[in-house]
Amino acid sequence: MLTLVIISNSSYETQKVGFQLAKKLKAGDVVALFGPMGAGKTTFVRGVADGLGLGDCVHSPTFALVHEYEGPVSLFHFDMYRVESFDDLESTAYYDYLKREGIIIIEWSENIENALPPNYIKVEISPQNNNLEQRQIVVREVKKT
Ligand SMILES: Nc1ncnc2c1ncn2[C@@H]1O[C@H](COP(=O)(O)OP(=O)(O)O)[C@@H](O)[C@H]1O
Ligand SMILES: [Mg+2]
Repeated sequence: MLTLVIISNSSYETQKVGFQLAKKLKAGDVVALFGPMGAGKTTFVRGVADGLGLGDCVHSPTFALVHEYEGPVSLFHFDMYRVESFDDLESTAYYDYLKREGIIIIEWSENIENALPPNYIKVEISPQNNNLEQRQIVVREVKKT
């Protein structure tokens, strides 16, 4: 199982990591983002959308819970910040999205860890103490099947 550890020194670099990951993604893939408020999760999603050829369309779905970006391969962007129960999760239609042809990317995966599929790509973004603009990004393929 391959693990990538990347140090990003700007939001541009974080987007670039997302852009590069997008080139490896295919319909059906699930990308689970972990990291605190302000880590750069939405920034990362911007890079992924750009890499999928969806352009500059990403904004935070905190209130809508999910945004759909249509393209050759669609991107379904969830924000689970407010999801605290199974009922909350069901109301986002998450389980229906898992069956659709598209790539799913999830902010605040911490809140739905038990509902992630057996196989997914885990992206952990960690702010660094010494530098306001620095992040450690760990990308890992999780495979339980
Ligand atoms: N290396 C970096 N990577 C990502 N964002 C960064 C970085 N350095 C500074 N930032 C800033 O941190 C903020 C991250 O915001 P956002 O992507 O919305 O975070 P989240 O979705 O995790 O709450 C942005 O204002 C961005 O400009
Ligand atoms: Mg966000």
